[in-house]
Amino acid sequence: MKFLRLEDVDVAQKTVLLRTDLNVPMQGGRITDDTRIVRLLPTLNYLLKKKSRIVLLSHFDRPGGKFVPSMSLAPLVDALSKALGGKEVQFGVDCIGPAARTAVDKLKAEEILLLENLRFHPEEEKGDARFAKELASLGDVFINDAFSCSHRAHASITGLTQYLPVAAGRLMQEELEVLDSVMTNAKKPLGAIVGGSKISTKLDLLENLTKTMDVLIIGGAMANTFLLAQGMDVGKSICEPGMKATAKRILKSAEEQNCKIVLPTDLVVVEKFAEHSSCRVVSVDAIPATHTAVDVGPYSLQLYREALEGCKTVVWNGPVGAFETSPFDASTVTLARIVGKLTGEKKLRSIAGGGDTVAALAHSGMSDSFTYLSTAGGAFLEWMEGKTLPGVAALMVKGDPKAKRHG
Ligand code: 3PG
Repeated sequence: MKFLRLEDVDVAQKTVLLRTDLNVPMQGGRITDDTRIVRLLPTLNYLLKKKSRIVLLSHFDRPGGKFVPSMSLAPLVDALSKALGGKEVQFGVDCIGPAARTAVDKLKAEEILLLENLRFHPEEEKGDARFAKELASLGDVFINDAFSCSHRAHASITGLTQYLPVAAGRLMQEELEVLDSVMTNAKKPLGAIVGGSKISTKLDLLENLTKTMDVLIIGGAMANTFLLAQGMDVGKSICEPGMKATAKRILKSAEEQNCKIVLPTDLVVVEKFAEHSSCRVVSVDAIPATHTAVDVGPYSLQLYREALEGCKTVVWNGPVGAFETSPFDASTVTLARIVGKLTGEKKLRSIAGGGDTVAALAHSGMSDSFTYLSTAGGAFLEWMEGKTLPGVAALMVKGDPKAKRHG
């Protein structure tokens, strides 16, 4: 796959706008997993060596185009500095306008500046050209190291490429090269585990995955919408009643495509969701109206295990339970151990992707047991479907035939 790399652009002593994904898992203002930060180090170190002035751009969460204090990137400053061995990281309180301009103008070679959440401006998600141009005016070169955001045609992903020389950062390069090498001619049967709570954005992706996957294991909040679509009462569990028709379509498409869907048959439910709150296991057709599903049950886990034992390659996006809250991490941890063990025994090649998934694997102590951990969630799934990711397409050397397939 021919895309522009760091070596293809002149970054020496230049002001480099580096699009990162600092949308890290956070709980109560505390970063619970720093994988997305640590994985930026190869690019940061390359740019520091080249004496660049580094301006970090990122979004955090989905503030909806307005300033939301709890979604500020300010808490990322210390985490970045720590990852860089104590190096100072400056902070700009806005990503455009006078505050950004002043902060960038003060920046010297080998210094790093993090600008505030791009999504505090509605123009970012709209891919607004004027906003992109204003961002571009802050730098000389644009490096995209956010593969995990490259499915979004946002101003800081595709817009900037219209105005500046561009290249992929080291993390983007690694993601594209490794995913391409593992997934091109991936050994079949091919399975996917999809869970997590970003239901509406992922449900659409599932329909396409039924065309490429032999097995689709569904867990987490995602599964509840399917249970609802099958006529079950899911009590107070997170679900999207408005997506019932989509879920039905996915089930039908899976049948037509010969893709086996594995849904939970039992769930762990609670009346009050809190750490160590009292819970019980119920069949999916017996969820009390007063209860919330927080994890998949032991029988479901057994079904997942059997399905995985029949696969040669598996991709995993999204935990299958509320893994941040003990003991509802149990099934996600066990599932990570099952996949890790099969991978270690060379029976399976495994790729996991997404902020929460990577955090869940780190929590399970299984991160090193997988074939590859991608920092991307939604982008990874879209890439898997063979969709053109606009952010990657913008980095392609013109004329590469693979640009159509994966980028
Ligand atoms: C992610 O966590 O997958 C990326 O940061 C993209 O976030 P988004 O789904 O809000 O665009």
